Amino acid sequence: MPFLTSKAARRTLRPIADLIDQRIERHVRRALRDGSTVRSTTAAASTSDAALQEELKKLRSRLRPLELFFDGTGRGMARLPSAHHINQAIDELAQVTGDKDGSERNVAQAFRLLIAMEALGVGRIAGGTMNIVGKLSAVPLLDPPNDEVLEIGTLYGMFGAALIRMMERAGREPKLTIVDPLAGTQLQPGASMRDDASGTPVQGAAVRVNLALAGAAGAATRVQQGFSEDPELRALISDRSYGVIIVDGDHSAAGVAADLEWAEQIIAPGGIVVLDDFGHPKWPGIKEAFEKHMAGETRFTFLGHVAHSGYLRASA
Ligand SMILES: C[S@@+](CC[C@H](N)C(=O)[O-])C[C@H]1O[C@@H](n2cnc3c(N)ncnc32)[C@H](O)[C@@H]1O
Repeated sequence: MPFLTSKAARRTLRPIADLIDQRIERHVRRALRDGSTVRSTTAAASTSDAALQEELKKLRSRLRPLELFFDGTGRGMARLPSAHHINQAIDELAQVTGDKDGSERNVAQAFRLLIAMEALGVGRIAGGTMNIVGKLSAVPLLDPPNDEVLEIGTLYGMFGAALIRMMERAGREPKLTIVDPLAGTQLQPGASMRDDASGTPVQGAAVRVNLALAGAAGAATRVQQGFSEDPELRALISDRSYGVIIVDGDHSAAGVAADLEWAEQIIAPGGIVVLDDFGHPKWPGIKEAFEKHMAGETRFTFLGHVAHSGYLRASA
């Protein structure tokens, strides 16, 4: 059971180990106080040690089904962030949004939602736990100027569905548009993508199943199959101004540069752009494209980052 030897499992099991240590200590102290011989103390301790081993084995076995809610099996990444990472994300979120109480509340609600969506949906949400939770929390707190949301690169549509739910929790009426080639697997130019950990093909049917989890707004989502740089697709999607644009498609510098350039044209005044995997060591092209873009003429101001996502606001 490799999960039980992982850092996360050690963290989870630490309170139980501490409890066992305390029990051993109590037992030895009592034996010494009662004036037992060293021999009887040793014998009692080894009996108790065997009993404790047995208890630990039972506890581990009981923990296994609970771990399945949080470990990385079937989604490639465990969903058990440390207290440090949760608090860090809350602090970063509060800095980006200026809302400390809202940040704490949204992080808690978004974390529960992420676990629930991956439990009920097909496929998975891409990326690290605090990065996903940060995006789901930040968007409603940044109070976008309208409810039109564009997600460039959706994979299984599960993040979009979760974002609909978070927007609705803030009393908004999100209308989602999705652009993705939905090519059977995740496409990333220049990167070799292995079979997905979830075992689910990246296709329209999976996206629809996940969107259905988000009720009426999920079912009403516009799903446009294709590449975000395609002029015909752009013409179709550029029929409105978006309050929120999630840039999470082609992660190469050229791909991100093209998406940012398009976002300049279709973002509503005061709108929010989320730049996913910003500063992620695996995807250096994202920050490279961002820095080049911001050095030129732009409507965007950088608000900050939460985990590996950057946040920009268009001028009003
Ligand atoms: C990292 S995944 C998106 C993850 C999703 N936003 C989430 O949070 O779970 C990137 C997706 O973008 C798609 N993609 C790649 N190139 C694209 C392009 N030029 N336009 C739109 N989508 C693209 C990939 O095939 C993949 O489905």
